[in-house]
Amino acid sequence: MANLTTTYLGLQLKNPIIAASSGLTENLKSIKELEKNGAAAIVLKSIFEEEITHEYEALAKEADNLGYNAEHMDYFDYQIREKNITRYTQLIKEAKAEVDIPIIASINCFSTHEWEYFAKNCEKAGADALELNISISPSDTELESNFAEKKHLAIIEKIKNNINIPLSIKISPYFSNLATVIQKISKSGIDGLVLFNRFFSPDFDIDKLEINSSFILSNPDEIALSLRWVSIMSKKVDCDLAASTGIHDGEGVIKQILAGANAVQLASALYKNGTTIITDMLKMLEEWMDKKGFDNLEQYRGLLSQAASSDPAMDDRVQFMKYFSGKF
Ligand SMILES: Cc1cc2nc3c(=O)[nH]c(=O)nc-3n(C[C@H](O)[C@H](O)[C@H](O)COP(=O)(O)O)c2cc1C
Repeated sequence: MANLTTTYLGLQLKNPIIAASSGLTENLKSIKELEKNGAAAIVLKSIFEEEITHEYEALAKEADNLGYNAEHMDYFDYQIREKNITRYTQLIKEAKAEVDIPIIASINCFSTHEWEYFAKNCEKAGADALELNISISPSDTELESNFAEKKHLAIIEKIKNNINIPLSIKISPYFSNLATVIQKISKSGIDGLVLFNRFFSPDFDIDKLEINSSFILSNPDEIALSLRWVSIMSKKVDCDLAASTGIHDGEGVIKQILAGANAVQLASALYKNGTTIITDMLKMLEEWMDKKGFDNLEQYRGLLSQAASSDPAMDDRVQFMKYFSGKF
């Protein structure tokens, strides 16, 4: 029987399937269910700095009516932050006590100070690793094209100097030179990169003339983007790679390993099919490996990565020409 173990962020995983940060990883019941159905690690739902800021701002609006002065508000700022971080670190502690698989904490902040504060607390609570979800929207026309890159590197430097657990960064694909940025970030001392985060994309209701949010979950076609970039970058980075976005079945897992991923992260597939889909994916992975005669993941990791090709740039061009010159 094939050996499915892999290493990711220096952690030994029993297989390459990780439950991505989502609403399914924010309570103990579903974390236990994910473990039961085969997940090899859990990335907890992110703690968002905005949750704290919004709560504080709501209180600040009422401050005059309630007779609070600046000193009171400082105190409430502290209390709100402590309450939220305590709730999050409690989840880390409970998950660590109840499941045997690695627990990766996830944080999403915008101010540099809060990243450090949250990270230190997650480490103290016993998280096995930390994933930073640095989502800088590429829609601000006032920002220089390398703003996001600089910001990522500045945040990483601060956090790396403050924690001792492994660190991964989940990035978006929206950089002006993605390959260069991925490589630079991979060399910044981090342990892993997650390709990619998925931004909220609005949809329009043409009857009500309203904006809605019907694209929350990915579909299997969306694997194209992460597969392409894992394949391009897997032999050019100095850290592990986890593929995220559009992995919905066992075939998706196999493809990402062939591209060079150490692990994959699932969110939408779990929402659409239930967490038992992990068991089905693992079964398929095992059967495929047995059929192909692969005993372990290392035997085929990166086999179809771009670096495995003798002339990657030309291959890209030939595929493009074959397709668009109508010969396919
Ligand atoms: C309902 C929902 C909630 C999510 N919450 C978070 C989150 O808190 N932090 C995070 O980094 N990613 C979050 N994500 C993004 C996922 O972790 C994942 O990167 C993205 O959905 C792409 O993977 P998928 O195609 O398997 O869904 C969320 C996704 C969904 C669908």
